[in-house]
Amino acid sequence: MQVVTVREEYKDKGFIMNINDVLKSRRTIRKFKQTPLSGEQLMRYIDAARVAPSAANLQPLKYIAVKNTEMVEKIFGLVKWAGYLASEYNPKEDERPTAYIAVCADTAVRKAGYEIDVGAAVENLILSAFSDGVGACWMGAVDRPKISELLGLPENLVLSCVVALGYPAEQPKEVKVTDGNIKYYLNEENTLCVPKRDLEDVIIKIYD
Ligand SMILES: Cc1cc2nc3c(=O)[nH]c(=O)nc-3n(C[C@H](O)[C@H](O)[C@H](O)COP(=O)(O)O)c2cc1C
Repeated sequence: MQVVTVREEYKDKGFIMNINDVLKSRRTIRKFKQTPLSGEQLMRYIDAARVAPSAANLQPLKYIAVKNTEMVEKIFGLVKWAGYLASEYNPKEDERPTAYIAVCADTAVRKAGYEIDVGAAVENLILSAFSDGVGACWMGAVDRPKISELLGLPENLVLSCVVALGYPAEQPKEVKVTDGNIKYYLNEENTLCVPKRDLEDVIIKIYD
């Protein structure tokens, strides 16, 4: 299957993708090409997260980038993929992420209530990667104690989530929610279909 990334798709057209198109075409990626990412790329994605909105501008978040092969392999065993799908959909050995970014909250800066900051920062991070043609999976189902130990996190750094990264080897698509079912699924072509609620279903009212 040919995977079209933002960069490839827009390369010939000589313009940068409109932000709304970016937001609507981003999908979680769970199958990756094995082309490595550079440290510079990971720093750029963290830099995008760094400037995200932050409550009271406290900026309690800290990041750890992992691209070392041995560490990447270890983290793979400590995260859970695509809960709605059978384990056959788990990335095969040659489809695994090539890097991870761990997102931590520094409790010395903010003790609790930092999860909304995490949301804004992680979305920035993922979109920065996307603009590079790099796919991402935001991962909350992670073994926090084991990953914290592996990364040698001090007590004040609480692991919130992990973002798996790599060049996409799949092209999931948005589909309509039918019969209220929001569970993503694989269609007959083995394409991951991600149901999104209709606009009419999420807008309660417009005071015009
Ligand atoms: C807070 C959060 C935690 C998530 N945790 C996981 C996870 O542990 N494993 C996984 O495969 N996907 C995880 N995802 C990805 C969601 O399954 C995905 O965003 C959702 O199915 C919608 O697909 P989309 O991102 O392509 O729109 C997580 C997403 C969010 C926002």
